[in-house]
Amino acid sequence: MLKYNNRIVITGGSGRFANAFKKIEVNTSLKLYYPEKNKLDIMNIKSIQKYLKHIKPKYLIHLAGLSRPMNIHERDIAQSIDKNIIGTANITKICSKLNIKLIYISTCYVYPGLKGNYSEKSSLYPINNYAWSKLGGECSVMLYKNSLILRTSVTEKPFIHKKAFYDFKTNFIFHEDLVTKIIKIKDKKGILNIGGKSQSVYDFAKKYNPKIKKASARKMFGKKMPLNITMNIDKFKKLTND
Ligand SMILES: NC(=O)c1ccc[n+]([C@@H]2O[C@H](COP(=O)([O-])OP(=O)(O)OC[C@H]3O[C@@H](n4cnc5c(N)ncnc54)[C@H](OP(=O)(O)O)[C@@H]3O)[C@@H](O)[C@H]2O)c1
Repeated sequence: MLKYNNRIVITGGSGRFANAFKKIEVNTSLKLYYPEKNKLDIMNIKSIQKYLKHIKPKYLIHLAGLSRPMNIHERDIAQSIDKNIIGTANITKICSKLNIKLIYISTCYVYPGLKGNYSEKSSLYPINNYAWSKLGGECSVMLYKNSLILRTSVTEKPFIHKKAFYDFKTNFIFHEDLVTKIIKIKDKKGILNIGGKSQSVYDFAKKYNPKIKKASARKMFGKKMPLNITMNIDKFKKLTND
């Protein structure tokens, strides 16, 4: 299939992450397409194929799926399996058939969250069902070599909460700050940890809201809650010259 090098299809066009792509004029030479479910349904192979054959993109950024609330993945495992595992497998099959570069947004929660500083080669032990469903998606994407898996930790701008965890560390980055970086590295392949500096959610949030109050993740979620989900993002920093 002849492809347009400047075309990127973004699945999950009505979602939070996709909205950040829409807000930012990433690069005027790129043309971004945001199909909604009625045009590209990740549960329907034929609709995926029909849409992609029509648009002929070089890249597809896969954002469609089930994300929040996090506990929906414990309450409704059928939906979690369908959207995040089977839906991603469907997308992978068609991208592979049409040789479209697939960029899959995964999560830092595939790491165990105990010691922190996890590199792309660290052992995985997803912390909850959401993370297992994202790892399920990663498994199909890994079979297709023209792909990039991005493990990340994102939050909405402005930081909406009045309290932030001082005892939970991650690599929070705002969606808006991440999307331009994703565009920059779109030609890379393999697995990449991406995000901001390793720090507590409180330290991240207080830069934007000095009045923010402290809260304890340990107190709120109990002993089983992994408290250090930080990733080593050196590879990503080198690639983006940050
Ligand atoms: N937000 C984060 O902090 C974060 C962090 C790491 C990774 N991620 C990943 O990034 C991706 C996007 O996250 P998000 O926060 O933007 O999620 P979101 O706001 O829940 O958006 C999900 C999108 O998927 C669409 N969708 C659902 N079922 C579909 C189907 N069968 N066919 C086509 N589209 C379908 C939804 O459309 P409808 O609304 O029409 O159902 C919606 O546009 C997810 O895969 C998530 O796991 C997010």
